Amino acid sequence: MRDSICFSINGQSHEVKGDKVFMTLSDYLRYDQNMPGTKVVCAEGDCGACTVLVGSVRDLNSGKIKYRSINSCISFLYTLDLHSIVTIEGIEDSELHPVQESMRVNHGAQCGYCTPGFVCAMAGMTDTLIREKKPLETKRSMNYLTGNLCRCTGYEPIIKACETLDLKKITPLYERYHDQKMIDQYTELSKQDVRISTQTRELRLPATEEGALKIKSAEVRITSGATDLGVLVNKGKLEQQKVACFNNVSDFYKIEKIGREYHVGAKVTWTALEEAIEKDLPEYADMIKIFASPQIKNQGTLIGNIANASPIADGIPYLMVNDSRLILASKNGEREVETKNFFKGYKQLDLQSDEIIKKVILPVPDKDVWTKLYKVSLRRDMDISAVTFAGTINVVKDKINSVQLALGGVGPIVLRLPKTEAALIGKDFSREEFFKARDILITEITPISDIRGSREFRLQVAKNLLMKFHDELAKEKLSQEVEVRL
Ligand SMILES: Cc1cc2nc3c(=O)[nH]c(=O)nc-3n(C[C@H](O)[C@H](O)[C@H](O)COP(=O)(O)OP(=O)(O)OC[C@H]3O[C@@H](n4cnc5c(N)ncnc54)[C@H](O)[C@@H]3O)c2cc1C
Ligand code: FES
Ligand code: FES
Repeated sequence: MRDSICFSINGQSHEVKGDKVFMTLSDYLRYDQNMPGTKVVCAEGDCGACTVLVGSVRDLNSGKIKYRSINSCISFLYTLDLHSIVTIEGIEDSELHPVQESMRVNHGAQCGYCTPGFVCAMAGMTDTLIREKKPLETKRSMNYLTGNLCRCTGYEPIIKACETLDLKKITPLYERYHDQKMIDQYTELSKQDVRISTQTRELRLPATEEGALKIKSAEVRITSGATDLGVLVNKGKLEQQKVACFNNVSDFYKIEKIGREYHVGAKVTWTALEEAIEKDLPEYADMIKIFASPQIKNQGTLIGNIANASPIADGIPYLMVNDSRLILASKNGEREVETKNFFKGYKQLDLQSDEIIKKVILPVPDKDVWTKLYKVSLRRDMDISAVTFAGTINVVKDKINSVQLALGGVGPIVLRLPKTEAALIGKDFSREEFFKARDILITEITPISDIRGSREFRLQVAKNLLMKFHDELAKEKLSQEVEVRL
């Protein structure tokens, strides 16, 4: 049993005990380690000023650390046990890193407050592209920067600094910071449980699933990627008293394809999920592309999104219509629930206080099932949804054989629409029938007005999305029929 956590920062080893393990990484860097290069602006994961790179010994590529960008302002130190961290101070070598040089040459900084975050995000991008042998393309580089805001320079010079990089001239951080001794040491340490008790708080980092299940109780709050919880703690809305974090339980990171189903573990991040399901569940993978930012997706998990149970969670609507199931586990055993039955009311779940969500099972739909997922938000990237929609449908000889519909942002939970579905089943796949179904749909939802949209706006959007679902499918169906005839 360990009573401390360990990690390295820019190649220097750190061991932390006591209440300090509950600090955010950005506070630890700035106020404990006198490393103010990492900036904090929003402290909510929104602006990317605090971006640093982290990699874990649990996730190696050819024996080397895979560095990914995260927001250090919402990352508690204990979530980084056995990680290698690279901050802006560690990006520069004997001379400026090519990313820093490119920002200088292209005039990518005015006040410079956002610059360390952009530089770290770009350095993380170059590491990933070099490792995955992918070329640097404008669209890809813009996607990597969706989590970084700049208030004064404007994005053109920053994007230019990014897209004019020459990957061949960059030595990746996974080579520069490779330290076999540290990897071996951390791999050994990962086999030990961590328990840190202070006067007011307790942290548990179990090393195995069995250990994880033993410690879960009503008082113990699970922290996963902390992209929801970190914001709550920073806003003073949540105190961390008894915390369990499963970062060292390697089985929880597994994504397995068993038959025609994906089994997704409790610690699978959005980034890992997107990579795994791209071919079999393209619509869900496309939704993940516009989910938050790379920094958030590198930390946040699908199961955290489900357990947080927000009515506007982007991960949930598809799970409500694709026959997905959840495996809930406690020290007394496991049980399975259908995701569509898991949400009982606003933030109320069919989950006992000693249970955790261990897995999500995502079936791959049959070829004759059409899927559409929509997210309506004020801007495309990095925004919270106002309304979400998921629909799957099977049409046989122009008749609707089966249909599943779900809407988010129009009630206390993401809602299935049984009456609208019943009204469509057996009917012609036609605009007229969908028009009629719209009138039933509005009787099944109870949107409210808030900062993201009025009740009337949401009702209208919900009706429009049902029609969009029909119209897009009708167009695709027609073009398929033309293809077959040709
Ligand atoms: C800037 C920003 C942008 C965001 N953008 C989006 C977005 O576009 N769409 C969207 O839907 N969300 C978004 N989010 C919300 C958040 O990123 C997601 O909900 C994420 O999936 C949460 O996962 P996590 O691992 O970080 O959860 P955590 O914050 O660690 O935990 C969330 C909740 O889940 C519980 N929990 C975690 N694991 C388990 C488990 N195994 N069993 C039981 N309970 C568990 C925790 O106790 C907690 O109550 C955003 C957040 C931020 C800060
Ligand atoms: S300070 Fe804005 S994302 Fe961390
Ligand atoms: S250079 Fe000032 S915020 Fe970006």
